[in-house]
Amino acid sequence: MQVIETGAGLDCAGTGPGADLGPRAGAGTGVPGGSGTGAGPLIAGTGPRAPAGSGPGAPAAPGQGTPAAPVPGKSPAGRPDLADVLGQPAARRAAEICAAGGHHLLLLGPPGAGKTMLAERIPGILPPLSRAAALEVTSIHSVAGALPAGRPLITGPPFCAPHHTATKAAIVGGGSGVIRPGAASLAHRGCLFLDEAPEFGRDVLDALRQPLESGEVVVARSGVTASFPARFTLVMAANPCPCGGGPPPRSACTCSPAVRRRYLARLSGPLLDRVDLKAEFFPVTRRELLSDRGFAEPSQVVAERVAAARGRAAARLRDTPWQANAEIPGSELRRGFPPAPGALAPLERAMDLGELSARGADRVIRVAWTLADLAGIARPTVAETSYALGLWLGVAR
Ligand SMILES: Nc1ncnc2c1ncn2[C@@H]1O[C@H](COP(=O)(O)OP(=O)(O)OP(=O)(O)O)[C@@H](O)[C@H]1O
Ligand SMILES: [Mg+2]
Ligand SMILES: [Zn+2]
Repeated sequence: MQVIETGAGLDCAGTGPGADLGPRAGAGTGVPGGSGTGAGPLIAGTGPRAPAGSGPGAPAAPGQGTPAAPVPGKSPAGRPDLADVLGQPAARRAAEICAAGGHHLLLLGPPGAGKTMLAERIPGILPPLSRAAALEVTSIHSVAGALPAGRPLITGPPFCAPHHTATKAAIVGGGSGVIRPGAASLAHRGCLFLDEAPEFGRDVLDALRQPLESGEVVVARSGVTASFPARFTLVMAANPCPCGGGPPPRSACTCSPAVRRRYLARLSGPLLDRVDLKAEFFPVTRRELLSDRGFAEPSQVVAERVAAARGRAAARLRDTPWQANAEIPGSELRRGFPPAPGALAPLERAMDLGELSARGADRVIRVAWTLADLAGIARPTVAETSYALGLWLGVAR
């Protein structure tokens, strides 16, 4: 694996051809044999009800149940392949939506369910960078002294996975001498992956709110201000409890519900508000683990759907400064891109019930556009907005 050390515990690499995202040290754990968890909401306070339409009426998940061509080994570019991830259809679907629209994603589930595994496979379903983006990303990595040896141009979306002990300076930029870009900028036009997200410092998580909003970081220090681009897709993984014992009753977890709630509350409300998709993992069943890998869709098939959806979005946005749905500012979204008549009704209901914030509503509409792009329809209907709302609330299945 191409690992560039640019700061405390920072693990970051461009994922162009030749880069290998092989399993990170310490990522593997045992797989519990248990199955089934409580099906409550992912995040306390996000409401127990599945919104209408997030169940059987939800838009068809492409590829679910479609046998894919068997692909032995890794994908052509030598990256780890989605075909390795068995089961977890809801989480796989969320990863595809994340890649198709550039939406932020939280993967929540018990140890050994495949959260890290899935996150590491997201760059493999993203399209290569445009020439302009490649030059921009390369220049940031060059300024940070993080350009991989022998690769003058980064052509694939970067994937940065800083360790949870990383400092705020390592994540958003700073340093004692020259102000250097941090992981958030090294992940520009790619993914910033926070594994074990609740273990990150509160100040680090809070510092991410600014780039999530504006697409850039501004570092001010003793009269000097530097700004770096930081338009990344945030992917976070978390266990539902601090002991990592998995969900009761089958595991050794003894954490009380209050302890579990407090643990996840470390991912503060304002940060979770900005996470478009919350996907829950369930313990992998023995049957899933023994099932034929050839029936899990490979990255190449998913990447083709992602590219087609991104192509539709880019065509719609061709006269704007934006390329992906996640980039459209809220005001422009409401003014220029109205969903089908009546499609906003589920969002209005959720706002009346206090389940959805105004910022959340914009995020849900952007995701609904991505669902429409994946489905190849002209604009989101009530099926797409309902499903997108379920994804934001963390109750979509
Ligand atoms: N869905 C799955 N399909 C195939 N293998 C899996 C799956 N889930 C887990 N495994 C196996 O278990 C190992 C651990 O998975 P992974 O590290 O992704 O789990 P995790 O959810 O990130 O766990 P933790 O919470 O402990 O970090 C993988 O390397 C893989 O061998
Ligand atoms: Mg993990
Ligand atoms: Zn526990």
